[in-house]
Amino acid sequence: MSSAPFSVEEARGLLDAELADAAGRGGLLPADVHELKVRWLGKKQGVVTALLARLKEVPKEEKAAFGAGVNALKQEVEARLDALEAEATARAAARAEAAKAVDVTLPPRVPPVGRLHPLTVVRRRIEHVFHGLGYEVADGPEIETDWYNFESLNFAPDHPARDSVDTFFVEGGGTGRDALLLRTHTSPVQMRTMEGRRPPIRVLCPGRVYRKDDIDPRHSPVFHQMEGLVVDEGITFAHLRGTLSAFAKSFFGGRAEVRLAPTFFPFVEPGVDCAVSCVFCETGCRICSYSGWIEIMGAGMVHPNVLANAGIDPERFTGFAFGMGIDRIAMLLHGIPDLRLLFENDVRFLDRTWG
Ligand code: PHE
Repeated sequence: MSSAPFSVEEARGLLDAELADAAGRGGLLPADVHELKVRWLGKKQGVVTALLARLKEVPKEEKAAFGAGVNALKQEVEARLDALEAEATARAAARAEAAKAVDVTLPPRVPPVGRLHPLTVVRRRIEHVFHGLGYEVADGPEIETDWYNFESLNFAPDHPARDSVDTFFVEGGGTGRDALLLRTHTSPVQMRTMEGRRPPIRVLCPGRVYRKDDIDPRHSPVFHQMEGLVVDEGITFAHLRGTLSAFAKSFFGGRAEVRLAPTFFPFVEPGVDCAVSCVFCETGCRICSYSGWIEIMGAGMVHPNVLANAGIDPERFTGFAFGMGIDRIAMLLHGIPDLRLLFENDVRFLDRTWG
């Protein structure tokens, strides 16, 4: 205890110096004041306690004055440290309050807002065009029977056209009315719609379809189609052509022309591939493979066998159907280089406005 002050005056001088020093550092917190209290008032090694211990060294006639001086000092220390403690407690409370406070000058945190998937945007745009032509939207199951997906649509069980749309069979597969598979196109919804009602029929059938396909930038075992079907008395190929042309102009812009080329689908006769003139270039570009045309759908006049399978008299009614890939159109419109981007749900891709 050699560092203990020798006299009350010396101790008071030390107290003044220490408190001035603490004040100089500013912003004392309760823990700092506690330290000071231990140092000055601690029962074992506190400065005041040490000073009092000197009482025995003080000459007899000075003991009373020394004791009174130490007591006075003790009260002063207590009062000053209590005052500091009150300040420190208030300061700590103010800081805690400030930490909780809202800084109204900060820019607002914008909550993440969901956006429509590009496929949804394109599907709705296509639907919008056909709503204007009087179509309604029909839905059907993704797990289909062989009958609706193939046989009723004029794909006989051993027809080679089945090979081009090899699929995933559910529970053993096979052919016939009960065999289950993942639908390879949305055309089975045509059949279900025709069975459920009489002409006139004008429906759009959007949905997810499955094919046993490679996975690469242009292929995926799952993708999306939009099928259209019209059945009524007196429907001709001219109606089909006019409808596709109106769709192309409305969807791709007034300059868009359609080109039809013969092809084969079992459920239409005649069947056509429909291409739209490239709206992205004047003289040829990568999107149209420098041909000026972009193939976007298959179409044709509904085969009489298909109408008959649905219980509709093919002598009285005729119709047309068309089908396009929603994914392919989204890729074309937005220059999306890889089909898989549409299915990976990467927000860096999705968090754009696909309007
Ligand atoms: N369903 C056909 C396909 O998936 C497309 C199509 C629909 C063709 C309607 C003609 C008529 O390829």
